Amino acid sequence: MAKAVADDYLRRIPKAELHCHLAGTLRATTVAELAKRYGMTLPRPAETLYQWPDFDGFLEILRIAAAVLRTPADFTRAVYEYIEDAVRDGNLKHVEFFFNPDYFYPNGIDYPSQVAGMVEGLRQAKERFGVSGLLICCIDRSTNTPSQAVEIVETAIAHRRDQVVGIGLDGAERAGPPATFAEAYALARRAGLHRTAHCCEDNQTLAEAPPTNYLICRDVLHCDRIDHGYNMLASDFVMAEARRDGLYFTPCAWTSLLHNRPHRPRRIRRMVEAGLNVTINTDDPAMFGTNLGHGFTTLFESNGWGPDKARTFSLNSIEGSWLDESAKAALRKTFRREIAALDKEFGYETAALPV
Ligand code: HPA
Ligand code: ZN
Repeated sequence: MAKAVADDYLRRIPKAELHCHLAGTLRATTVAELAKRYGMTLPRPAETLYQWPDFDGFLEILRIAAAVLRTPADFTRAVYEYIEDAVRDGNLKHVEFFFNPDYFYPNGIDYPSQVAGMVEGLRQAKERFGVSGLLICCIDRSTNTPSQAVEIVETAIAHRRDQVVGIGLDGAERAGPPATFAEAYALARRAGLHRTAHCCEDNQTLAEAPPTNYLICRDVLHCDRIDHGYNMLASDFVMAEARRDGLYFTPCAWTSLLHNRPHRPRRIRRMVEAGLNVTINTDDPAMFGTNLGHGFTTLFESNGWGPDKARTFSLNSIEGSWLDESAKAALRKTFRREIAALDKEFGYETAALPV
């Protein structure tokens, strides 16, 4: 069957990425090079480094990879290299990186130095590729107590940088209901930081990550965006609430090099059909064996979607971002111009694009 939209169109349509973890974007070759420099032994060589067995094995390798970032220059390189890869693989225009500051403390780099390194990476990438970027200070729920989470947010506030615009919550959702972190989120909210949380992720059972977690993220954590969301599909009530709320979701199409979950595209499809505001993201692209363009092509191949949906996801990524209104307006112009040029090149009829 002919594809309803060319892979090349999907790769080249402009995108903002709202859900990717800096540690999960590291090229295996960069991890190996830095590990050698720092005398650190990796569990496997670069070629197979990211062949982890299960979700817990993934979280382990994520922290091991993170341990090679030890100086501001390492953070600069990580940010720059990911943007370079994503521009090539998926026409990235804007990215919002999660970083977990406590992953890096054991190697002696403090919060301000981490952020300074990442900000420099964003500056260099903006200069070289014209891509903008923001940072999200993330709390790993599997390893942080509620009071440690408060400390993470306090640190982000004490060393405030314009680029760090919000907080997130990652790790295994079974660690506890999101309300555990209510105090950290209230602090962030009072400080004017945006709030997102990994919620209803399908690597957890419905008991571990129930649909009601969405309501807690909304009502207790006051999230203004939600990462993942698949387990919400088990509750018509929660889906109806989410549709009415209009928050943007950041599901990810591809989940692992060895054990990809084939039902993801169908779940994302159901989220779209239920009327949620969906964006398409990569999560941990290097570790999952995916990239920005591949996330789109795999999803569209499974779902048989045409160019209209690609345009919707492209433009949704601007609306769901945490850019300010003037930056969003500038991106809308760029996206619409590039989409029109692509439509012409590929002979796709341009539907009236929302202004
Ligand atoms: N889920 C939970 N924790 C994570 C993820 C994820 O997708 N990526 C990095 N840490
Ligand atoms: Zn994630």
